[in-house]
Amino acid sequence: MKLSEATLARFAREVAKFPPEQAQSAVMACLSIVQQEQGYVALEAEKAIADYLGMPVMAVHEVTTFYNMYNQQPVGKFKLNVCTNLPCLLRDGGKALAHLEHKLGVQMGGTTADGLFTLQQSECLGACADSPVMLVNDRHMCSFMSNEKLDQLVDGLKAAEGKA
Ligand code: FES
Repeated sequence: MKLSEATLARFAREVAKFPPEQAQSAVMACLSIVQQEQGYVALEAEKAIADYLGMPVMAVHEVTTFYNMYNQQPVGKFKLNVCTNLPCLLRDGGKALAHLEHKLGVQMGGTTADGLFTLQQSECLGACADSPVMLVNDRHMCSFMSNEKLDQLVDGLKAAEGKA
């Protein structure tokens, strides 16, 4: 994969934030840039980042696979991550995930046919007391997600996209 000049310029700005011998510290930023531009991080992109930063491809892959904010394949416009760690499972996290599976008609990990939603589970989001909790597009935290609130969220996003 050949990275564009614009992408390389963005990489360079991130690498410049660290001492020259610590260029690898920019790996997360470079992964985020690729994901912003392409929607996900393909294996070829990991290789290109590894080459750019002078680190093993496996070390880049380890970062990509450790954090579920990095998409390893294309996802829908709205990525819904429901926390299913034990504290949340004890407080209806599993039920929230099951409700979304039913409402969206996809299994966990799947993407709706219209490309609007990808449903995933997540590790602890640090808000166990607010369960059920979820993240939308890795940024927007939603707490106390009852079935009614889940319906409102999904219906609202669909309406905003003209697919209600
Ligand atoms: S276990 Fe779900 S937020 Fe902590």
